[in-house]
Amino acid sequence: MAKRVLVTAALPYANGSIHLGHMLEFIQTDVYVRARKLAGEDCRFMWADDTHGTPIQVRARKEGITPEEVVERAYAEHRKDFEDFQLGYDIFHTTHSEESKKHVYAIFERLRESGNVETRSIDQLYCPHDEMFLPDRFVKGTCPKCKSPDQYGDNCEVCGSTYNPTDLGDPHCSICGTTPVMKASEHLFVDLARHADFLREWISAGGQGGTPLQESQRNYVMEWVEGGLRDWDISRDAPYFGWEIPGHPGKYFYVWFDAPIGYIGATQKWCDDNGLDVNDYWGGKSRDDVEIVHVIGKDIVYFHCLFWPAMLNAAGYTTPSRVQVHGWLTVGGEKMSKSRGTFILARTYLDHLSSDYLRYYFAAKVGASVEDIDINFEDFVNRCNAELVNKAANLCSRCVKFIGSRLGGTMGALLPDTEPLVASSRAKLEQALEHFRAFESPKALRLAMEVAEEFNQYLTDHAPWKLAKTDPERARSICSAGIFASQIVAAILAPVLPTWAQKVQRMLKIDAPLTFATAGTVLEAGHAIGEYETLAERIDMKAIEAIVEASKEDAAPKRTFDYEVEPLADQTKIDAFGAIDLRVGKVLSCEKVDKSDKLLQLTVDLGPLGMRNIFSGIAKSYEPDALVGKHVVVFANLKPRKMRFGLSEGMVLASGEADDAVVVLELDTKSRPGEKIS
Ligand code: 2FM
Ligand code: ZN
Repeated sequence: MAKRVLVTAALPYANGSIHLGHMLEFIQTDVYVRARKLAGEDCRFMWADDTHGTPIQVRARKEGITPEEVVERAYAEHRKDFEDFQLGYDIFHTTHSEESKKHVYAIFERLRESGNVETRSIDQLYCPHDEMFLPDRFVKGTCPKCKSPDQYGDNCEVCGSTYNPTDLGDPHCSICGTTPVMKASEHLFVDLARHADFLREWISAGGQGGTPLQESQRNYVMEWVEGGLRDWDISRDAPYFGWEIPGHPGKYFYVWFDAPIGYIGATQKWCDDNGLDVNDYWGGKSRDDVEIVHVIGKDIVYFHCLFWPAMLNAAGYTTPSRVQVHGWLTVGGEKMSKSRGTFILARTYLDHLSSDYLRYYFAAKVGASVEDIDINFEDFVNRCNAELVNKAANLCSRCVKFIGSRLGGTMGALLPDTEPLVASSRAKLEQALEHFRAFESPKALRLAMEVAEEFNQYLTDHAPWKLAKTDPERARSICSAGIFASQIVAAILAPVLPTWAQKVQRMLKIDAPLTFATAGTVLEAGHAIGEYETLAERIDMKAIEAIVEASKEDAAPKRTFDYEVEPLADQTKIDAFGAIDLRVGKVLSCEKVDKSDKLLQLTVDLGPLGMRNIFSGIAKSYEPDALVGKHVVVFANLKPRKMRFGLSEGMVLASGEADDAVVVLELDTKSRPGEKIS
């Protein structure tokens, strides 16, 4: 039975929109899968959204919706982007699915049974205001090394040092600003060191498809193993959006435990939908039977090359045959930047240009190396125009149009002197497939362009347009060679530009799709071809400018208000404010006022300035006791006002959008009553 091949790209996080940095990997994966499918292999692209963890939990809370709603919204948006980018996945599922959950529980159960899970208590930062433990990225403070303020809890973006969130100076919760406290909690750990021998073997395993890792990656993943592996904490405390751990109420699986299991969940769903058995992929198969290939960015190698294979192996699942790592996308040599308009969302690109161009450009740039990939807009436009339009489309258009308009639309036999070119083109078609299979699409596309160049030259040299009247049969043969070359070019482009290959098939009236196996066949003399369909049009630099502008707008803070407020009062000078004398007041007593549900009566000490009796409309927001002992801000030179209940001698500063949502401005209790506040 043919080997089953299962390919995945990293699961995009459901917390945000897809941008071109993501698309680099997704296009790379899609091209790889399409090439293997076109080679007749049983190759599937199984994929999903990554939906769990704190960021989604926090976002939902902020927006006042459920995490499920956040996830559903992202799913719809992601799917649309991917369809418009022509990603030919077999399934795009979600980690928030029954299929994924089933395997999360199954893997956990097997790890537990085999003694791989330990429980112990650890201290962590906890925000008493948000009532949650804070992941490293949710704590900010001063870098312990370079003292830069406002750095994340795991590493400093200024000096690059890494540390624990507890090392930060002046730590605070990045959601609400509260100073976190240390709190102990039980966590579940997997002892990775137990799996060191297996990992060594897996990292260096040869056999089918070579080693699982590119050489540069293999070396440093091996260094991690040799350097000693730390226990892996697979649990998080509620509130957490994810799957609760069986037998541990209030504990949830860490998102990085269940995210890769989403690969299996997606396979499960696809198998269910197609009447197949998921174990034929994941049931502890050998590399000869099943080839699992993960395409990822270099930031998540640790998860895919240590935790993941160890976990799969310990639980008796199939381990990956290959992890293909790529570098970062940079634009004009720099990190994508929102303010420069180079942080481009997939949708913004699609609003202005066809996905074909980016698919081509990425496929022409992204090879098997882990180096960063720089794109430059001028180069992007030039290459698409020079290669796709001037070379590849032009070759096909000249020949199809000429045969159609001047030679009755039928093919002729190739001239004997075309033989060597035909043979070398067929060889290039074969080599191109090998390049695609090695994640070297740039080399494959280079071959397609060579074929186009050689045959364009052949046409120029043989000038069929001069022969149409004098020797039409020779002209037909020459153009037929150009048609043959267009088939080869289309077949090499097919994994990258699927519609291109379909159009060529349609215009040449060929029954079967153009693939690595079929495209090398020369059409018979007399075969009737159809009309030319536009394959590619030149890109105008203006489209790029529009994308950059729109990306700057995408990045600008959005402000939309659909209500009206009172118009602003006339402008005044600072003196108006200076006329108000604000003083520190200490609340000595505070009581409810009879027959009023709005007012509290406060006795406020202004130190050397004496005591004040103040009525304040805060009864719906404060229990009287809550304010006693607090230091507050008093508008102290306000003219006393006689009220129904007595004289009010000042005003306590407070604000709120409704009677029951008023907040009194509080001062530190070290402030001295009566002191002026400026
Ligand atoms: O880094 C990320 O964006 C993760 N969402 C990738 C997960 S890949 C897999 F493990 F699910
Ligand atoms: Zn907080």
